[in-house]
Amino acid sequence: MEINEMKRLLQSSISESRYLHTLGVIESAKELAILHGADDQKACIAALLHDAAKRMDVHEMIEISNEEGFPPDEFEISAPAVLHAPAGAAAAKRLYGISDPDILHAIRSHTIGCQRPTKLDAIVFVADFIEPGRKPFNGLEEARKLAETNLLAALKKCAELSMGYVVSCGGKAHPTTVKMINDTEELI
Ligand SMILES: [Fe+2]
Ligand SMILES: [Fe+2]
Repeated sequence: MEINEMKRLLQSSISESRYLHTLGVIESAKELAILHGADDQKACIAALLHDAAKRMDVHEMIEISNEEGFPPDEFEISAPAVLHAPAGAAAAKRLYGISDPDILHAIRSHTIGCQRPTKLDAIVFVADFIEPGRKPFNGLEEARKLAETNLLAALKKCAELSMGYVVSCGGKAHPTTVKMINDTEELI
């Protein structure tokens, strides 16, 4: 599918504010890819489709994730806010014809993170947080600054912010996120 066609399909399937957020994530992902020597085309497509499943209901998200080979774990099933990541990878594959495993992996990993994140995984995760349309929150400017110079440090910061938010809402941090933070710490 051609990129403008993807944009049209996406725009018709998510809210206007989500679409604007997505355009911001594309902008940030492209900048980060150029800055840190990653494939900017892949970064743009992963950013474009990262929230593609946001409007699906929980049942639909679980079903498409399982059917397309991105099975959510028990933890994700019990925390629907993170389910749109595996469902997004599944939607990118089924509805947008994306077969590139790097792009699909970056989409799949954008909520809870993953083990040994690639540069592309880190770029999408960080871009999702620091995109220009984000309303100010504690730690945002620090994450933006880190993203300019140290992608891994920015990834760690964004994962910590994400975990902090989940915990402040009464949820539990996903073990994968905790492990990614600890592993990243050693690599910075
Ligand atoms: Fe998302
Ligand atoms: Fe997002």
